[in-house]
Amino acid sequence: MVTVTSIAELQERIRDWRRAGDSIGLVPTMGALHDGHFALMRHCRADATRTCATIFVNPTQFGPNEDFASYPRTVSADEDNLRAVGVDLLFMPSVTEMYPPGHSTRVRVGPLGETLDGTFRPGHFEGIATVVTKLLLQALPDVAVFGEKDYQQLQVIKRMVRDIDIPVRIEGVPTVREPDGVALSSRNAYLTPAERAVAPALYRSIRSVAQAVAEGGNPDREAARGVEALERAGFGRVDYLTLRDAETLQPVADASRPTRVLAAAWLGRARLIDNVSVAPL
Ligand code: PAF
Repeated sequence: MVTVTSIAELQERIRDWRRAGDSIGLVPTMGALHDGHFALMRHCRADATRTCATIFVNPTQFGPNEDFASYPRTVSADEDNLRAVGVDLLFMPSVTEMYPPGHSTRVRVGPLGETLDGTFRPGHFEGIATVVTKLLLQALPDVAVFGEKDYQQLQVIKRMVRDIDIPVRIEGVPTVREPDGVALSSRNAYLTPAERAVAPALYRSIRSVAQAVAEGGNPDREAARGVEALERAGFGRVDYLTLRDAETLQPVADASRPTRVLAAAWLGRARLIDNVSVAPL
């Protein structure tokens, strides 16, 4: 695996591979890699002949009081693990390489980025859309791979790529979970042992809401039950637990179209997000 830090080196390497007839896959990450990320890398390797991973903790997607400074950074373990999983190239740009002095352009996706996490984290999806657009245009891959764990992010990116005609196929990969159902996330590192013991309630609760709605339950009533279950289990503030159209992320009255249960809730200083699909009626 070759590690590069400049856009010029990234493009030179990809140009050589293109000339040799390779197809290119891109897996953007913020590092602190875990098995969820390695599933993305493996998916990418099966889909393209060259897999490029990126590690960049993107400042523009963090709010002023969020965890940009303390976000876990484990670069040397990440490099070893990416090599072991068969990644061909790691792109690790600095903040000034990505956002040189004077940068001012932003990408805003509209309603998809303004609901759910967009309400609780203003500017979050604008930061994501901007950095992902830049990474896609820098690498011009055939395919780019993202996790369903960040379901709203995946929908935002799919919409953005369609809307502004970025010539790339976006692939979503199912969430990887611990045996007790907790979705793998770099932010799980913030959980104390006592909080970690409470964390499985999130998946349990959204799964039971999904099942109740699939069986004809009222989405609002079942979501309210889900929130109560989280609070009883020991979660702090529940930012949302809601049923949404799987593509538009607008509220639904039933599950007649593909529907998703999405939730975000606090456990100590960790804000956990998770989602599941509602099986068709
Ligand atoms: O999912 C992430 O790790 C980030 O939001 C992404 C897509 C790498 C953009 O910074």
